[in-house]
Amino acid sequence: MYMEWGNKVAVITGAGGVLLSAYAKELASKGVKIAVLSRSFEHAQRTVDEITTAGNIAKAYACDVLDKKSLIEIEKQIYESFGQYHILINGAGGNMPNASTTNETFIFEDLNSSSNTRSFFDIDSNEIEKVFSINFLGTFIVSQVFAKRMLGVKGATIINFSSMAAQKPMTKVVGYSAAKAAVDNLTRWLAVHFAEQGLRVNAVAPGFFITNQNRTLLTNSDGSLTKRSHKIIGHTPMRRFGKACDLFGTLSWLCDEDASGFVTGSIIDVDGGFQSYSGV
Ligand SMILES: NC(=O)c1ccc[n+]([C@@H]2O[C@H](COP(=O)([O-])OP(=O)(O)OC[C@H]3O[C@@H](n4cnc5c(N)ncnc54)[C@H](O)[C@@H]3O)[C@@H](O)[C@H]2O)c1
Repeated sequence: MYMEWGNKVAVITGAGGVLLSAYAKELASKGVKIAVLSRSFEHAQRTVDEITTAGNIAKAYACDVLDKKSLIEIEKQIYESFGQYHILINGAGGNMPNASTTNETFIFEDLNSSSNTRSFFDIDSNEIEKVFSINFLGTFIVSQVFAKRMLGVKGATIINFSSMAAQKPMTKVVGYSAAKAAVDNLTRWLAVHFAEQGLRVNAVAPGFFITNQNRTLLTNSDGSLTKRSHKIIGHTPMRRFGKACDLFGTLSWLCDEDASGFVTGSIIDVDGGFQSYSGV
């Protein structure tokens, strides 16, 4: 019927962060052994401690998803510890405030040199490069390093992390929107490229979940919701932010070769209806 989870191994980047640490724990609770990759070892270890305390199996690895040399080393260590892995989740990513405008749309006062705002014209292209690197190259390089050993392996699957911003760019976040659109494009490209080797490649596009990467955009220092948050909730038919557990079913379905074995190149919205709502 459905896949035997107990003999699977998953590699998860960004697993020290909010959404992917939650899913790492969920997947581990099904019996999957987890290689927890995070930029900070401390964060990776925190996720691992929670997994092992619950009686499940995981190991922490500190990694920068842009450092191919160290990823190659980590890949060898993971293979030595766990053997063949089947699931790769490219979760590392996020927005960067300096690759965003201050105002949603252009106003002439932005051009005033005494203005404290960052207009489109003030954004340093290095900041765009950084946000592209983390989201696009971070997915590209990790897939290069890990996919090789997954080719021809039964049940092999890659899941990337897209965003609502990919399909329709979000105001302000010019760099992140374009970078996640590139992740969608790469997801489809990889799906086609590796389909004959049995490696499925899909993405989830979460709606709005309050996590570390967007906390300052969505909440004020006293914890109340910002004007932008109210706008988001007003545009989300289900009238709430997502909770990490809202992603679990979709991610597990995509991981499960018996449930989604004919699904590749798909980008699945988990967004409370955000993408379907026209605004009226
Ligand atoms: N929170 C949301 O509303 C939302 C919506 C859509 C998509 N996403 C995507 O979901 C994924 C998970 O984000 P989250 O919301 O849990 O945020 P988060 O900030 O809690 O976690 C992101 C993780 O990515 C890691 N990371 C960033 N750059 C890295 C690098 N160079 N090398 C290694 N790790 C790096 C961070 O250290 C962090 O652990 C991201 O790809 C994000 O863009 C989030």
